[in-house]
Amino acid sequence: MADSTLAVEFRNIDKAFYGVKANDNVDFQLRKGEVHALLGENGAGKSTLCSILAGLYRPDAGEFLFEGQPTVFKTPKDALAAGVGMVYQHFRLVSNLTVAENLALGHPKLGVNISQAELEEDARQLGEEYGLPVDPAARIWQLSVGEQQRVEILKLLYRQAKILILDEPTAVLTPQEAQQLFKTMRQLAAEGRSVIFVSHKLHEVKQVSDRVTVLRDGTTVGGADTADAEPRDLARMMVGRDLELPTRDANPDIGEATLIVDDLRVAGDRGLEAVQGVSFEVHSGEVLGISGVSGNGQRELAYGIVGLRTPTSGTVTLDGEDVTAMNVADKIDRGVAYVPQSRLGMGLAPGLTTEDNLGLKAYRKPPYSNGPMLAASVFKEKGAEWIDRYDIRGVRPGLPIRLLSGGNLQKALLAREVELNPKVLIARSPTRGLDVGATEAVRNLVLAERAKGTAVLLISEDLDELLALSDRVLVLYEGKVAGRMPADEATPERLGLLMAGHKEEAGT
Ligand SMILES: Nc1ncnc2c1ncn2[C@@H]1O[C@H](COP(=O)(O)OP(=O)(O)OP(=O)(O)O)[C@@H](O)[C@H]1O
Ligand SMILES: [Mg+2]
Repeated sequence: MADSTLAVEFRNIDKAFYGVKANDNVDFQLRKGEVHALLGENGAGKSTLCSILAGLYRPDAGEFLFEGQPTVFKTPKDALAAGVGMVYQHFRLVSNLTVAENLALGHPKLGVNISQAELEEDARQLGEEYGLPVDPAARIWQLSVGEQQRVEILKLLYRQAKILILDEPTAVLTPQEAQQLFKTMRQLAAEGRSVIFVSHKLHEVKQVSDRVTVLRDGTTVGGADTADAEPRDLARMMVGRDLELPTRDANPDIGEATLIVDDLRVAGDRGLEAVQGVSFEVHSGEVLGISGVSGNGQRELAYGIVGLRTPTSGTVTLDGEDVTAMNVADKIDRGVAYVPQSRLGMGLAPGLTTEDNLGLKAYRKPPYSNGPMLAASVFKEKGAEWIDRYDIRGVRPGLPIRLLSGGNLQKALLAREVELNPKVLIARSPTRGLDVGATEAVRNLVLAERAKGTAVLLISEDLDELLALSDRVLVLYEGKVAGRMPADEATPERLGLLMAGHKEEAGT
C-alpha cells in the first residue's frame, strides 16, 4: 500500500558502529512538501539516520522505502542521483576552489566546456531565487560559515535535490541568518520538496517545521504535528526528565583586569583590516560576552589574542605582561586557553583518539612527558578521568575522536582547555550544537571557571548563550566596538540594533 504522499519511509532501521547501536529500530516517515524536524540528545542517532538516507551509511537491518520502493543507496552519489542530498554537520567543501567551482564539482551533467562565467552566473541566479546570496567568485576559505552553508545548499539545488537534509544548519548561523534560512526552507517545501531539519533549539523547531520526530538512544520515541507539540513535552521526550538551565548570579568577586586589549588591530583574510582598534578589559571572575553578526572581526580578534595571527598594532596584556607578539605555545604556557568555533578544523586532531586529544595541549609538560618521552599511560589515565568528569559519551578505546557526536566533541574540547587551569578562557560559541542537557553542562562549566577566578571571553553569535553567561556585553560591528553594556541592560532588541550597525560608541 504505497502512500504517494510519502517521500521516504524507514521501518525498524538498525545501524551499529563497532557493536554500538547508533540507530536501533528507527521508524521515520518523510512526506513530500514538508519540513520535518528531527530532535534528540547528542548521540541520539540523528546524523546517523540522515546519513543512511543520504547514502553515506547502509543500514544493517530494516526497510528503507524511497517513494514507495525498497531502496538501498550505496553511495552519496547514488542518493544524489535519486534526488537526496545532505548538508553535513561538518562541511565538506573544497576550500581552495571558488563557490562556482564547488557547485560544478562532481556534477554528472556538466561537461568540461562550461565557462567560468556561465558557472558563476548560474550560481548567482540560483542564490537570488532561493534567498541564498553568495559571491560566486569567492574562494571557500574566504567565506564565513554562514556563507559556506549557503554554498552547500546551493550545491544540492544545483543538482535538483528533492529531499534536502540539513544537519544542524542553524548551529552556525546568527538569528538573522537563521530566519533567512527558514524562509528558504519554507520555499522549498512549498515547491513540493522535503526538508529534514535537525536542531536542538525547540523554538526553531516550533517556528519552521510541520512535523517532528524525536529520537532517544538511537530509537524513535515519538512524533507529532509540530502545531500540537509543546516545547516542554518535546524536551522531556528527548531527555526523559525535566530540565532547568542554570541561572547566573552576579559574581561578587570580580578581581583585577587579567586580560587587557588596547587599540588592537588585526588583518583579515582579504587584505582588509578585520579588527580596527578594539579595546576592552576582562577581569578575573568575569565573563565578557562579545556579540556581533559573524564576519565582523570576531575570528580575527580571537586569533590576535591567542597568537594565531600577529596583530598589526595595539597591545594584548596578560597579568601585566605584554604578550602581543608571543606565539601560541608561549601564550598557552602563560594560561591562555582557547575553544575555537570549528571543533574538527582547529580544535581537535580528528584522527587521534579521544584520550590523545585530551592530552594534546599539556603534552610538553610533566606528567605527560618527562624530557623527550611521552608517557602513554598518563594519556590513558588522565583521559579516562576527564571523559568521566565531563560526561563525554560514545568514546571507544583506540578509535579516533572524529567518530564522536557533535556535542561530545565540544565537551572534549572544553574539558581539555578547562583542565589547563587557564587564567583566561577564550571560548567561541561553546554551546553551539549541544543538546539541552549538554548545554546545561557546558554553561555550568563556564560559570564554574568564572567562579574560580578565570577571566572568560565569550565570543558568540547566539544571543541566548551570550545573555545566559555574560556579566558585560560588547558588540562588534565591522571590526569596531559599536556598543558595550552590563548584561542586565542588554536586551535582544538593543543588541540586534547594534549588530546591524547602529552605533552607540564612536569607533576609535
Ligand atoms: N562513523 C561512526 N563510527 C563509530 N561510531 C559512530 C559513527 N557515527 C556515529 N557514531 C556513534 O553513534 C552514535 C550516534 O551518533 P550520531 O552522530 O548519529 O548522533 P547525533 O544524534 O547526530 O548527535 P549530535 O546531536 O551530537 O550531533 C554516537 O554514539 C556516535 O558516537
Ligand atoms: Mg549529529
